[in-house]
Amino acid sequence: MDTNAQLDRLLERQAVASLGGGQDRIDKQHAQGRLTARERIDLLLDPDSFEEFDMFKIHRCRDFGMEDVVIQGDGVVTGHGTIGGRIVYVYAQDFTVFGGSLSETLAEKICKIMDLAMKNGAPVIGLNDSGGARIQEGIESLAGYSEIFLRNVMASGVVPQISAILGPCAGGAVYSPALTDFVIMERLNSYMFLTGPKVVKSVTHEVVTVEELGGADMHSSTSGISDYAADSTPDAIHYIKRLLSFVPQNNYESAPILPCSDPINRSSEILRSIIPENPNAAYDMKKVIAEVVDDGDFFEIKEQFAPNLLVGFARFNGVSVGIVANQPAHLSGVLDIDSSIKGARFVRFCDCFNIPLVTFVDVPGFLPGTAQEYGGVIRNGAKMLYAYAEATVPKVTVITRKAYGGAYCVMSSKHLRGDINYAWPSGEIAVMGARGAAEVLYGRQAKESDDPAAFLAKKEEEYHETVANPYVAAQRGYIDDVIVPATTRARIVRALGILQNKRDTNPMKKHGNIPL
Ligand code: HXC
Repeated sequence: MDTNAQLDRLLERQAVASLGGGQDRIDKQHAQGRLTARERIDLLLDPDSFEEFDMFKIHRCRDFGMEDVVIQGDGVVTGHGTIGGRIVYVYAQDFTVFGGSLSETLAEKICKIMDLAMKNGAPVIGLNDSGGARIQEGIESLAGYSEIFLRNVMASGVVPQISAILGPCAGGAVYSPALTDFVIMERLNSYMFLTGPKVVKSVTHEVVTVEELGGADMHSSTSGISDYAADSTPDAIHYIKRLLSFVPQNNYESAPILPCSDPINRSSEILRSIIPENPNAAYDMKKVIAEVVDDGDFFEIKEQFAPNLLVGFARFNGVSVGIVANQPAHLSGVLDIDSSIKGARFVRFCDCFNIPLVTFVDVPGFLPGTAQEYGGVIRNGAKMLYAYAEATVPKVTVITRKAYGGAYCVMSSKHLRGDINYAWPSGEIAVMGARGAAEVLYGRQAKESDDPAAFLAKKEEEYHETVANPYVAAQRGYIDDVIVPATTRARIVRALGILQNKRDTNPMKKHGNIPL
């Protein structure tokens, strides 16, 4: 065969492989408002940066007539490319080929790029759209899933792993995304569940729709598995790109530092009056964050889940940070089971990847009640404690108002190795709220008095005046300084500056035993 013929043969094979399961199935995919695997990769990566691996790889199944249905690429497109000039490894399941179901060879393709990503220190992005284990293969596909799970675990904390769910993701397919750092789900077309509505009905007699059982909004607001519910594939891809811009390539690097045109000494007079006069009135902590970070840009993670705690990325003087903040505008910013899990996971991600933590505190305590106690608020609240205590990245804390009880300890306090801890003059740092404290300390005397309500109100005021301010903590050095709110941005920038070479370690151990 001459050279031209050889080249023609290559181009012909590439053209066939590029069509995946064929034009009819591509049309069906499009008719459902879904893009193909290659179209998704094109949206994700810088133009012309994608280099594909294993385009000609085929399955090895010889049962159920599969020997006659062999499709090049076998249900997943894998390779590497760049996003904003930075290398990423990517796989996109191709639903047009056996429903993107996972065969032995498909798993090998995914494992190959995961191994390369680990060796070369670059993020892995998985675009999921699959009917689960390849039913014709059986144990080979289960083995394949397990090989992927193992690599997800080995890569955890080494390179960032991001999953987008753009179609079905059922059965064993759910566990790989669940092991990754971030999950983004597309609203219209995606769902994730272990068992579908039919099985649910036969086992528990529950009647439930696909969306109710595993849709993007459910997972983004109720289960918390999803970090973002995207309105469309371009929206999901945009979110991934933004997310990547805040994180480093691997655990040995720092996140990119961007040029900053927002003045670092910018004063925020609005912060002078943002705390309401009534100590129980709400205000929006997002306004505080937007006021102090570079260009007001706060990239929120898990916005719909446990909104009483805000987590996300932002920059100070171009340096990427993880923000954790109580949100008084929702449930008074109380800590509960869901917010503790949300916060702990985010803190641990930042610590894995050398991203400093900036924590804003206005928390009345942990949420009381049987629902919380039965649900394990002790164990789950301990996750947040554990995460902050073990984190060795720079930790800057600003108490804007309440820091009560165990929640004070948890929220990056000095005692958990907080590096620089500030409070505003409105800070209230105490064992418990003044009303509760007055009732515990003076309940008996109040009952014996002529006017118990007035007696307790006076004691409440006394307690508040004496204890609930930032100066008792400042006198002990637990607060490094009480700062003028308008200067918060400048103070945080300076604090991060002096911490930029921070080195801290934990005792040598195989790994800790976080209360799961
Ligand atoms: C092989 C599959 C497949 C699978 C879909 N296909 N899922 N082939 N193995 N798991 C094929 C279909 O036969 C069909 O082929 C094509 O993909 C498109 O599927 P449709 O059913 O036509 O698409 P749609 O109507 O959109 O329905 C999508 C779906 C459905 C809801 C995902 O296909 C489905 O229920 N699939 C099975 C899901 C499942 O039970 N998976 C196994 C889970 S158990 P043709 O040739 O007709 O186009 C599991 C255990 C792993 O994953 C545990 C690991 C730890």
